[in-house]
Amino acid sequence: MSDIETLKAQSLQAVKDAATLPELEEVRVAFLGKKGRLTEIMKTLGTMSVEERKSFGAAVNLAKDELTQTIDARKAELEGFALDARLKQEKVDVTLPTRTRHEGRIHPVTQVIEEAVAIFGEMGFSVAEGPDIEDDYHNFEALNFPADHPARAMHDTFYLKGGKLLRTHTSPVQVRAMKKQKPPLRVLAPGSTFRCDSDMTHTPMFHQIEGLVIEKNIHMGHLKGCLIEFVKTFFEIDDLPVRFRASFFPFTEPSAEMDIGCSREGGTLKLGNGGDWLEILGCGMVHPNVLKACGLDPEEHQGFAFGMGVERLAMLKYGMPDLRAFFDNDIRWLTHYGFGALDIPSLIGGLSQ
Ligand code: PHE
Repeated sequence: MSDIETLKAQSLQAVKDAATLPELEEVRVAFLGKKGRLTEIMKTLGTMSVEERKSFGAAVNLAKDELTQTIDARKAELEGFALDARLKQEKVDVTLPTRTRHEGRIHPVTQVIEEAVAIFGEMGFSVAEGPDIEDDYHNFEALNFPADHPARAMHDTFYLKGGKLLRTHTSPVQVRAMKKQKPPLRVLAPGSTFRCDSDMTHTPMFHQIEGLVIEKNIHMGHLKGCLIEFVKTFFEIDDLPVRFRASFFPFTEPSAEMDIGCSREGGTLKLGNGGDWLEILGCGMVHPNVLKACGLDPEEHQGFAFGMGVERLAMLKYGMPDLRAFFDNDIRWLTHYGFGALDIPSLIGGLSQ
């Protein structure tokens, strides 16, 4: 009986001493393998009385179970160490110079944002940013989404522990801009947005460009002039037809969606004067409730706002067929659809070479 206790203690100590996975495997074979010491000791059962055999057999089995469990635990621990060591060793030094074979390309999302910044920059807009992790107040409440309003559900919001959320649109930057700067205001806010939605045409993360103008005596005519100028310049089509359709957003009144002309003949989409229409962005006059929430007097200041999807603009201008490929990080896609790092979009130099 004491034999088996000694053997057990020895085996557990050996597991502790095993510093590597191969060493641990040696210990397992030495004690539990076909010719292992705990396997061998079972062979002495034949020399024992029935009573002895029972208790001895049970003790050996217990020892085997305990050893197996201890080995498994140690194995998990050593695997953890091995992974840590590997992660340390395989650290990537991002400051190393690039390999020319994989010369970096500018992602179409970045390119489209740069192009929009170039166009609106020319009109006097400056770029503003807000956090990706927002609170309910900036993402919804100050934007005139009443509590329990169905429009909140429409946004498929990702909520974080503690009540914060991932912004569902770039419109909260409107609120931050109005609270930070005194009018007149011309702000362009590009950035990431998040909605719990994923299929052919939706990814959980995507990008929007928000625009906001606050001045005295601003009206719908300014909004239309500004956006018509933008789409013609962005798509590089001088006679691009546009139309505004009445729509609804809680934070604008009146609200509209802007369509641009296209043709879908033979199943291929072509932008321009083709008799058909394609929705391109949402816009409207800033709702008086939003102005008030941001400390502005609607009798004194008015404004317009617009928001558009960056990936959608990119797909329409550059012809990518599948939205999901934007975020696959496939070097072939990036090489094909990416842009040269030195071809910086400008109205004088050209938006897209
Ligand atoms: N935030 C709206 C959306 O995500 C777009 C929008 C912005 C509409 C500004 C009007 C004014 O759908």
